[in-house]
Amino acid sequence: MTNEELKKIWLEKFKSVPESLKKMATVKSVATAFNTNVDAVLKVKGNRILELAKKLNLSLADLQNITHTKLESPEDVLKGLFRCFSRGIAEEWLTEDKLVYDWMVENLGYDRLQMGGQGGIVANALAVTGVQKVYAHTNSLPELQAKQFLELDNLLSFDEQGQAKPAHTINRELDIPLIHWMLEFDKGESVTIGGQTFTCPKSNRFIATYDPLNLHLVMDKHFIAQMAEEPVEYIVLSGFHALTERNNGVKLQDDVIPIINQWKNNGDLIHLEIASTQDLAVRKAIIKKIAPIVDSIGINEREAIDILEVTDFDNLAQKCNENTHSVNMFEALMNIKKHIKAPRVQLHMFGLYITIQDKNFKISPEANLRGMMLAATVAAGKAGTGSINNPENLLWAQGQTVSDVGLNELRDLAQHLNKPELISSGITEIEGYDIIAIPTILVEKPVTLVGMGDTISSISLVGAR
Ligand code: GLC
Repeated sequence: MTNEELKKIWLEKFKSVPESLKKMATVKSVATAFNTNVDAVLKVKGNRILELAKKLNLSLADLQNITHTKLESPEDVLKGLFRCFSRGIAEEWLTEDKLVYDWMVENLGYDRLQMGGQGGIVANALAVTGVQKVYAHTNSLPELQAKQFLELDNLLSFDEQGQAKPAHTINRELDIPLIHWMLEFDKGESVTIGGQTFTCPKSNRFIATYDPLNLHLVMDKHFIAQMAEEPVEYIVLSGFHALTERNNGVKLQDDVIPIINQWKNNGDLIHLEIASTQDLAVRKAIIKKIAPIVDSIGINEREAIDILEVTDFDNLAQKCNENTHSVNMFEALMNIKKHIKAPRVQLHMFGLYITIQDKNFKISPEANLRGMMLAATVAAGKAGTGSINNPENLLWAQGQTVSDVGLNELRDLAQHLNKPELISSGITEIEGYDIIAIPTILVEKPVTLVGMGDTISSISLVGAR
């Protein structure tokens, strides 16, 4: 079948999306935990990098001399930014030094503030899609943080007294705002330093994070008490990626295990968004301790490769690094599934989402397919309009055809697996597992990419009905 024929078939299938969106309103309650913060977004041009380097007296050799990926001084902020800019890559470096934070406030500024952290981003996304009640965990909720929550009555968090209220109305005055700088740069921008010109090869971002609470996985006792008391249908979990071994990040995970087990006993379905975890000991611990006890896991290509690297699949990791296409990534996902043994794992990559789940899992393959198509549409709406804060943008991409990139990836995968039906049905079975895969809608010039994976994972799960 040609791509044009396949596009028609998928366009037909995607017609279920508005109905799937309506069904989100039948979901009674969802919670998100743990990381919510404020993102300070700043577009950085090439000459701004030069300016800042001059101010700090940094030569090209200084900028390239990276001995650690932690922000111990303002110079490190510039080093990380320059590295990501010149390579077109995304990284997040952390600081625990208030002086570095103060330097960023004074010298960087920002263009706008927006909701940050997987927990906060997913809470806003699920509330706007109509879930009846969304509880967001916040370990800090001063006015600045509260303002990043959508003004919706179904989106709740807790005040100092433990009262659940619409999150945007709360102001825990003694809390400090947790701000992450999202330093974005565009492809084609260039900077000349030390006689050499560096041109950014791919639009991306460097995140410089000051966040003393999320780095220590501080939990809000009122949220924990509420979850113990009242079951919710889903809990979307994340925030472990910000931990470090030096900060006790392995032990802190041990403390969460009984809490997760209690949620499971309540009947909550738990999804873990792995996120980009730099600290190897912490990453290993997440894979060994947290991932195996949850019901569902969400990853992108990079995070999948990161997992392979800490689970003795070095050769496969290298293969995926060299060729990040669907056949290699499927092999990666299958190995991750078998290693971790969580009932459901989902990968979202450029143009394609793939879910592998146990045969008897409580969500059917057909429902998964519907959830994934809803997620693909909403994600394209977010990319195309810049935000899904306004419910009108949710279906912005409805009626657009799926991408050639996605169809080609899916075709290669179907051929490789010898399952020709996969390319037009999106569903098959391999080694006793259900496989669900969809080509996605791609937006030519995305206005934003921050929080895309979080949105895809949570909507495809909660929208799988
Ligand atoms: C990381 C960052 C956070 C950002 C999020 C987007 O958690 O710390 O600032 O909003 O990624 O997915």
